[in-house]
Amino acid sequence: MRFTYKCNDCGNVIESDEVVYQCPKCATNQEEGTFPKGNLIVLYNKEDLQELAKKDHVSMYDFFPYKVVDKDVYPVGNTPLANPKRLAKELGLTNLTCKLDSTLPSGSFKDRASQLIAAQALHFNTNKIALASTGNAGAAMSCAGAAYGLEIILFVPASAPANKLMQSVLYGATVVPIKGTYDDAFALSIEYTNKFGGINRNTAYNPMTIEGKKSVSIELFEQMGRKVPDVMYIPVGDGCIFAGVYKGFYDLKEAGIIEKIPHLVAVQSTKSNAISQAWKNKNFKAISGASTRADSISVSNPANGRMAVRYINESEGWAIEVEDEEIINCQIELTSKAGIFVEPAAACAWAGLKKDAEHIKKEFGADANICVLLTGTGFKDMAVFEGRVTIPAAIENSKEAVVARFTK
Ligand SMILES: Cc1ncc(COP(=O)(O)O)c(C=O)c1O
Repeated sequence: MRFTYKCNDCGNVIESDEVVYQCPKCATNQEEGTFPKGNLIVLYNKEDLQELAKKDHVSMYDFFPYKVVDKDVYPVGNTPLANPKRLAKELGLTNLTCKLDSTLPSGSFKDRASQLIAAQALHFNTNKIALASTGNAGAAMSCAGAAYGLEIILFVPASAPANKLMQSVLYGATVVPIKGTYDDAFALSIEYTNKFGGINRNTAYNPMTIEGKKSVSIELFEQMGRKVPDVMYIPVGDGCIFAGVYKGFYDLKEAGIIEKIPHLVAVQSTKSNAISQAWKNKNFKAISGASTRADSISVSNPANGRMAVRYINESEGWAIEVEDEEIINCQIELTSKAGIFVEPAAACAWAGLKKDAEHIKKEFGADANICVLLTGTGFKDMAVFEGRVTIPAAIENSKEAVVARFTK
C-alpha cells in the first residue's frame, strides 16, 4: 500500500521511500523534562485502504507497508482469545475475553513489531538491526533475527530480568548491557545505528514498530466475527503498544470496515504513571525514577507518550493506575483462577479492568464486550514470586508418606 509519514506533533508530512525515523523539525526541538516530540504516523492512501473493504476477510498483512516473506519462518499472530469464565463471574461481566499475546514465539507482544521490522530490513537489503529494550522487544527482535538470519545488536539496562537477557543471548544476538537506564540504552542504540548503519528498531522512534503492533487489532476484529470490543484494556509503559492497538482500529475505520474505534484504556502502575498523569493533567511532563516491579512498563519519559495521550482522547478512552501489589495479586489470580500465566506488566491490564469493573457495568452494562490485552508470558520473570509462592517440601518416597500427607 502507498503511504506517507505525518508528524504526530507538528503535522509535517514526509513523502519518502527511504527509511524515515522522525520528524526532522520536532526531533531536534525537544523540551527538557517533557515527552519526546517528532514521532511519525504512517498514513496509507485512502483509496488503497478502501479497496480492502471489498474483501470478505482481511489479514494484518493487507495493512502492512512492507511484504512479510516466509511468514512461517517466524509465525507471528493468531494468538488465542481466552474466556476467563470464573473471573468474569466474580466481576459480574458476561462478555469478557483475554487476548493471549503471551503465546507469541518469543513470549511477548513485541514479536508483532519485530516481524515488520525484519520485513523492513529485508526490504532495504540490510541484515543488521540495532535496538534498545527493557527486555521483551530485545528478545523478540533476537528471535526474529535467529529465524531470518539477521544480525541483532541489543542495548539493555544491565538490571533487566535475567530470563529476558538469557533469551536474547540464546537467540544469538549481540547483547550489550548498559550500566544505566533504558533511556540511556535508547540513546546509545541510536548512536550505534548512526555510526554503524542498519535499521534501528527503537520503539516508536522507528514508526514501523507501531505499524507492526497494530496487527493485533486487525486480527481481533476477524476473531470476534468482524466486530470490535466496546472497551479494551492495555498495559502501558512507552505507549507504543497502545498506539499500535489504536492504529489498527484507525486503519480499519479509514478503510470503511468498522464504524467506531473501541474505548481504549491505558493501564499503568502508580510507580510508573507518566502517561496517565499527562492525560489527567493535560501536559506532557516526564516523571522521575519510575520503579514498578512490572519491569516492562517502568518508564520515566515515555518514548511515545505524546501519541499515546492523543489516542486515549481520540478513542474516548481513559487512563487508570494500579498499585504494584494489585498487579502481582492479579498475576497470581489470573494464573490460579483462569490458567493464564503472564508477566507482571501484562497482569497490570487485568488489574486495571478489575479496578474499573463497576464503572464498566454502570456505563456500558454487564454484557459489554471487554477485551484485556495480555502482553507477555509469566516465564519471563519468575523471580517476582520469591517470598510469595513456595514449592512444597518433598515427602518420602513411600505409601505411608502419601497417606500422612493427606490425613489431617
Ligand atoms: C509485556 C509487555 N507489556 C506491556 C509493555 C508496554 O508497552 P509500551 O512500552 O509500548 O507501552 C511492554 C513493553 O516493553 C511489554 O514488554
